[in-house]
Amino acid sequence: MSSRARKAVGRNVLRKEGHDKVTGAARYIDDLTFPGLLHARTIRSTIPAGEIVKVRFKGDRAGFTLVDHHDIPGRNIVALIDEDQPCLAERKIRHVAEPILLLVHEDREKLRAADVQIEYRPSTPNYDPERSAITFKKIAIDKGDLDAGFAAADVIVEGEYRTGLQEQLYIETNGVIAVPGSSVAGAAGGITVYGSMQCPYYVHRALVILLGLPAGKVRVIQTETGGGFGGKEEYPSMMAGHAALAALKTGRPVKLVYDRVEDMLATTKRHPSIVRHRTGVTRDGRLTAIDIDAVLDGGAYATLSAVVLSRGMIHAAGPYRCDHIRIRGRATMTNTPPNGAFRGFGAPQTQFAAEVHMDRIAERLGLDPVRVREINALRPGDTTATGQRLGKDSSALQVLREAVTRTGFRKRRRALAGTNRGIGLSLFFHGSGFTGAGEVKLAAKASLALTHKGARIHVASTEIGQGTRTMLAQIVADALGVRYDDVDVNAADTGEVPDSGPTVASRTCMIVGRILERCAEEMRARLGRLTPRQYLRAFGPLVITKQYERPAGMVWDDTVYKGDAYGSYGWGCDVVEVEVDRDTYEVRPTAFTTVHEIGKAIHPMLAVGQIEGGSAQGLGYAILEDVVMRDGRMANATLTNYIIPTSLDTPPMQVVLLENPYPHGPSGAKGVGEMPIDGPAPAVINALRHAGFDLREIPATPERVMLTSSVESTQRTPRTPRKSQAWV
Ligand code: MOS
Repeated sequence: MSSRARKAVGRNVLRKEGHDKVTGAARYIDDLTFPGLLHARTIRSTIPAGEIVKVRFKGDRAGFTLVDHHDIPGRNIVALIDEDQPCLAERKIRHVAEPILLLVHEDREKLRAADVQIEYRPSTPNYDPERSAITFKKIAIDKGDLDAGFAAADVIVEGEYRTGLQEQLYIETNGVIAVPGSSVAGAAGGITVYGSMQCPYYVHRALVILLGLPAGKVRVIQTETGGGFGGKEEYPSMMAGHAALAALKTGRPVKLVYDRVEDMLATTKRHPSIVRHRTGVTRDGRLTAIDIDAVLDGGAYATLSAVVLSRGMIHAAGPYRCDHIRIRGRATMTNTPPNGAFRGFGAPQTQFAAEVHMDRIAERLGLDPVRVREINALRPGDTTATGQRLGKDSSALQVLREAVTRTGFRKRRRALAGTNRGIGLSLFFHGSGFTGAGEVKLAAKASLALTHKGARIHVASTEIGQGTRTMLAQIVADALGVRYDDVDVNAADTGEVPDSGPTVASRTCMIVGRILERCAEEMRARLGRLTPRQYLRAFGPLVITKQYERPAGMVWDDTVYKGDAYGSYGWGCDVVEVEVDRDTYEVRPTAFTTVHEIGKAIHPMLAVGQIEGGSAQGLGYAILEDVVMRDGRMANATLTNYIIPTSLDTPPMQVVLLENPYPHGPSGAKGVGEMPIDGPAPAVINALRHAGFDLREIPATPERVMLTSSVESTQRTPRTPRKSQAWV
């Protein structure tokens, strides 16, 4: 059978769920209903810090059920890494929009009209991450001898860089439905939760702990999900808990779906950052010492701050070689809603700082931005900040050279000099999969079941719009030697699929895809010369389950943060041109080119889609997306004043894919989900620097650009084009 099957990998096959989405047949959480369905509304704190004194329900209580922390049968926490966040506040309040109780009613309008008054004893909030009394996590990375590195330097360049909050803004807001009396066979007294989410097993674990139920009595089923971007990594565990408590108390199905305002006010966002660099360089442009200090604003509870910080710190020095590095990072508590996972996971923040700093180093040395990167870019055989020796699958120089050639970077830079336009670039990398020993600890499992025509994939990895089902089916089809159409994908239902881990960290293709590839290889060997139908008739059902195996030679020491932080890295280079309006100081990107090396594009169109989308989201992060916090509350929690780029704000994008296979990825593939958002912000700010605006902070709002220009116009060293330097 194998020889006749046309290869699926590398082809733009039809998306598995495409037909249902295009025809409107796909059912999202708010499209679903159940007999006897009730609705829930979350009553939230209106103060950033203090204590609850009294809760009063005004008016007629008929038909309402109230759920508060007294209704929690297990432990009142949203189980994740630390156990500091209550599912429903008991007394203490740490941020605005903290859930306190749930109102349940069958009529959504009555729910909306209900009046619950809460009396508080406020205390003084802290919004400054650098002056916080609580540190969630600290990370230290040391390489070589920093003093020796600075002693070898001719020039030292310092700088401080800041990034703001960013909202994930998936099209579908968060939502869940909890149905009591779990449908898992033999699990009476249990609960089933349906919802829009990235990580069904995270939700499952959180429910087991909150409800005090055995694992077999909790079932979590992902429904069609309209985007995640990290924003559905942790909060669905909170919401599932709320809906489940309400369903258990009322004995009826309960739906909890946020509108856009509530979603923006209450759920996680990207961590703001303050990153300071002190860098030693030789006159000819070699980095001799890198000293970095970073603070991430974690918000009120720990959520995923520890791992966001970790990824941020590992990428903080950028894709550069240097023998002497010190990196210090911490994530601290402030009285704002908790910040959490967002595409890139700390790396966009720290690589923003590294890449803007790199242009400032170039400027100080009189080198052009390409040359300074070319001198220092990590090559195969070099070691990263954690001491990871890079293999042949490292492509920093290749992506840089490709981007420079494609855009005629140097020529454009000369042509635009002295105008209200500028061109800038950024070089970046992104590790695929969980960090360090993370994948070993996670021990992800995936299963493949033989069907009459081919196979069915069983994983908890979710389709959230990025193409998981399609891409995994392509990998399995080729490894098994069947047609793509003959591979189907089971729903991400914890009652039916093994725990292949969360759908995060650019891990689904490289890690889960590889496990499935191994399942398919073994299945193919078992089949021998038999067709699936013949095999099933002769031997009965065949299910192959495999677990993640760490590639030989990978070593990581979590206590000193040394070793192979990731199996492999993707490499990217962005070039952006911007235009600054002379009257309004609005910044408009006018051209965008990105070169991405991602090992192998399983589905080129989907990969390019990820890169275009991530780049647009990165341009929004750089220029438009400004979360305004006032007294600990998002003041612009609507789409009329939290502005994201539309297609009219997005320049034409040229996406170039390079392939440099990772030996342990399926068909050589690495991850692609996160990396595209690492590059745009520093490229934009570097383009603005070229246009005469010295910004150190994003977003580059008109106000910031205007203030920068008025300060800098007198101080700036002239940005005269230098004699073009030869480079090879
Ligand atoms: Mo993520 S930000 O690893 O979903």
